[in-house]
Amino acid sequence: MPIIAPSLLAADFLQLNNACEIMNRSEAEWLHLDVMDGRFVPNISFGIPVIQSIRKATPKNFDVHLMIEEPEKYAQAFKEAGANILTVHAEACRHLHRNLQQIKSLDLKAGIAINPHTPLSSIEEVLADADLVCIMSVNPGFGGQKFISSSLDKISRLKELILKKSLTTLIEVDGGVTLENAQQIVKAGADVLVAGNTVFSAPDPIKMIHDLKKIS
Ligand code: DX5
Ligand code: ZN
Repeated sequence: MPIIAPSLLAADFLQLNNACEIMNRSEAEWLHLDVMDGRFVPNISFGIPVIQSIRKATPKNFDVHLMIEEPEKYAQAFKEAGANILTVHAEACRHLHRNLQQIKSLDLKAGIAINPHTPLSSIEEVLADADLVCIMSVNPGFGGQKFISSSLDKISRLKELILKKSLTTLIEVDGGVTLENAQQIVKAGADVLVAGNTVFSAPDPIKMIHDLKKIS
């Protein structure tokens, strides 16, 4: 059974309490929080104060996806705001190994996200240092985009690599996940499914989370 990580980006920002209530009543284990800086990605979302506020409304794991340049400047602040997992983009880190060590030294789980064009070889040497790899199955910056189908092969190859190295690194898949393609994504090797619009635009988000959770 996959871990389900609904993305708050697709929730109604006027009703963040509601979104947390949905989380609390659902089988989702993680809340995915998309932080965008308008530099690494062509969009700006929300940041530290919002995360700090919603921390009071749900005990779920905060899976913070940093789509920002220079993430090392803010790691400590995200920790203080309530993050449990901090994922940085390989493309935004000149010293990725150092970034991962910094996150772990804060007692957080460390994740690496890679864009659709980024080859797995670019993270192979630091795979053992990461608790999670987030395969972007859309170009980051916006919710509601279509799943890039070549991501399936990338997920399978990453799974092979993790098994070959006897690692326990989790594979997270982010972007365009639906009830229709989730089975294939899990079959390819995904451990964590991020779902924004699929969950928060569903007539019954709690049931949708349940249906995604049932996939094996
Ligand atoms: C994209 C974000 C995703 C996004 C997913 O930049 O990283 O987490 O919120 O949204 P959906 O599931 O709607 O594609
Ligand atoms: Zn994300």
